[in-house]
Amino acid sequence: MSDEIKKGLLGIVVDETTISQVMPDINSLTYRGYAVQDLCEKCNFEEVAYLVLNGELPNKSELKKFKNQLEKNRNISINLREIVRHMPKKSHPMDVARTIVSVLGLEDKETTDNSPKANMRKVIRIFAKTPTAIAAFFRARKGKKIIPPKRNLSFAENFFYMCFGKVPSKDIVKAFDVSLILYAEHSFNVSTFTARTITSSLSDIHGAITGAIASLKGPLHGGANEEVMHMMSKIKKPENAFKWINKALDKKEVVMGFGHRVYKKGDSRVPTMEKYFKKVSKIQKDKKFIKIYDVVKSVMIERKNIHPNVDYPTGPTYHLMGFDTDFFTPIFVISRITGWSAHIMEQHAANKLIRPLSKYSGPDHRKVVLLNQR
Ligand code: SDX
Repeated sequence: MSDEIKKGLLGIVVDETTISQVMPDINSLTYRGYAVQDLCEKCNFEEVAYLVLNGELPNKSELKKFKNQLEKNRNISINLREIVRHMPKKSHPMDVARTIVSVLGLEDKETTDNSPKANMRKVIRIFAKTPTAIAAFFRARKGKKIIPPKRNLSFAENFFYMCFGKVPSKDIVKAFDVSLILYAEHSFNVSTFTARTITSSLSDIHGAITGAIASLKGPLHGGANEEVMHMMSKIKKPENAFKWINKALDKKEVVMGFGHRVYKKGDSRVPTMEKYFKKVSKIQKDKKFIKIYDVVKSVMIERKNIHPNVDYPTGPTYHLMGFDTDFFTPIFVISRITGWSAHIMEQHAANKLIRPLSKYSGPDHRKVVLLNQR
């Protein structure tokens, strides 16, 4: 047994998975063997969600049944709607998101049943209801009327409808759909590993996803897409970008939306998301962010050889779609529920309690001195 410490489990392989493969050397990410770029161009998010959860792309009748199941489960209980409506307006939407999943767990009749069939039924309910509750908070905190989900709208269309009361153009919906596909799954990232660790004690799927959301909130992980927007707002104008980013690097600051534990020559999802970011900038006739984006990216690569990750193009894209900045990571949540759920079910299928060792570096053994002598 080696007692060499690998902080952050850097480079350590802890288990195997059949769900996705990240190949940094050839800049590739595949879900169940399909390249994400291929999936983004030829599929919608529901097809990819089905693939991540079931291992195969659906045929027409399987997709119709899956979409039906999701639509049937989109509504949330009056109880949950009222809880969301009365949450402190200043709550961070990621804290609201994790609370929503916890309440769904309290309401679910199969919470303690970890059988594969019960887990899949719970996944459908969590996957279908979480966006509805998140959209409810998006409106409630502004004092706006909550808009219930609508049938016959796609997952992406329905989220826009519940947030804004209308569905945007096909091109905007497609860009959003692509972002959901790109966010769906990414092997043993920290929130997924959190979910697997919670599952390894045979705890339930609601608890595992609640923990994963707490992990995703962190700015080193999913919270980065929100921080990217805060950075762009501080830069304000394209002409400030070059000076701003060089000053940040001079101060050794961590620049959000850049770098990755696995990808060291660039995140394989960025070219696809960048393409749709540019499309949305053009549709919204707003070139400011793309100009800031390009300057910061070129300085980061030239000066530090650090490449953008998926959060870098996604942040400004969501801003141009009209979402509040602190809702960017909850959007990551509604997509990544698919990847987390697939890993939770995979962990159950071949479980071993996750319990690493630690190297002790505290005080030597010593005797207790009684209180009146201390
Ligand atoms: C996601 O794991 C996944 O798959 C996650 C994800 C997914 O789909 O689930 O891909 C989603 O979380 C993407 C990452 C989003 N996070 C950020 O954008 C936050 C900014 N990025 C950094 O914090 C950092 O790049 C990490 C945390 C993402 C990865 O860092 P590592 O692998 O722990 O490496 P490190 O922090 O030790 O950095 C190595 C060097 C350091 O310099 P030295 O101390 O060696 O001189 O690179 C530097 C770092 O300072 N560095 C950065 C940097 N990222 C790394 N310097 C400035 N800005 C950065 N963003």
